[in-house]
Amino acid sequence: MNNQTHDGAVPFQPFWNDTPIKTYLFDAFSVLLPAGEQFVISVVESAALQLQQRSTLAEDSRRFVAEERAHQRAHRLYNQQLEKQGFEVSKYEIAIEKDLASVQSKLSLKAQLALAAAFEHVTAVISRVALRQGGLLSTAESTQTRLWRWHCREEVAHQHVTTDLLRALGIPYRQRIFWFMAASALLAFDVLRHVHGFARLDIQRRRVSAGQVRRAAGRLLLRDGMNLGLLAVGWGGYFLPLKADATANCQ
Ligand SMILES: [Fe+2]
Ligand SMILES: [Fe+2]
Repeated sequence: MNNQTHDGAVPFQPFWNDTPIKTYLFDAFSVLLPAGEQFVISVVESAALQLQQRSTLAEDSRRFVAEERAHQRAHRLYNQQLEKQGFEVSKYEIAIEKDLASVQSKLSLKAQLALAAAFEHVTAVISRVALRQGGLLSTAESTQTRLWRWHCREEVAHQHVTTDLLRALGIPYRQRIFWFMAASALLAFDVLRHVHGFARLDIQRRRVSAGQVRRAAGRLLLRDGMNLGLLAVGWGGYFLPLKADATANCQ
């Protein structure tokens, strides 16, 4: 397929997720995913070494890692497409990779697991709201919506793995909540930064006007009240204490 116009420029793609702001939000998450998933994979692999290797949780952890590797490959390609559209995605990806590697080198395995479980919780909460009828994902068929639906379903289905590992390794409530707050702040900062970068570039090159972006953001706040409410409730659910079990998986 030739994507170039007669003057050699790559033509603008339509906003695949109905509005500019919802498209930017999911594209912004995609930027975080290859490095974020690498972090989670490496933590789950290390944590799973503490388990009886024939336990259900060890088996679930192996499946979890295989799924995350597949997501990682898919989002690397997705991000390459964003780069081709003119967004400076690889620059962000490298910075996130470096930040996470440096955080990982300084933290104990328990702290790393608390951080990874927090990322997984936030991802699963967003995934549930993305997938619901009238949720944050467009019902229109596109490569992006198909990829996100597949990814979101697997996130919802495997979220219990990191929670089970938290229980199995006995992560204290305070440590779990501390890293949850840190993960939430980090994700919110990075996603908003990328959304801002995408919008600024598109406004500069007249793919969209500043007014259209503002109106799309306003509509998200006003018309997606239920989705935003569900996000808040799901996020807050992390403050509930975990039920004690699964310690039988430990060596
Ligand atoms: Fe994933
Ligand atoms: Fe995941």
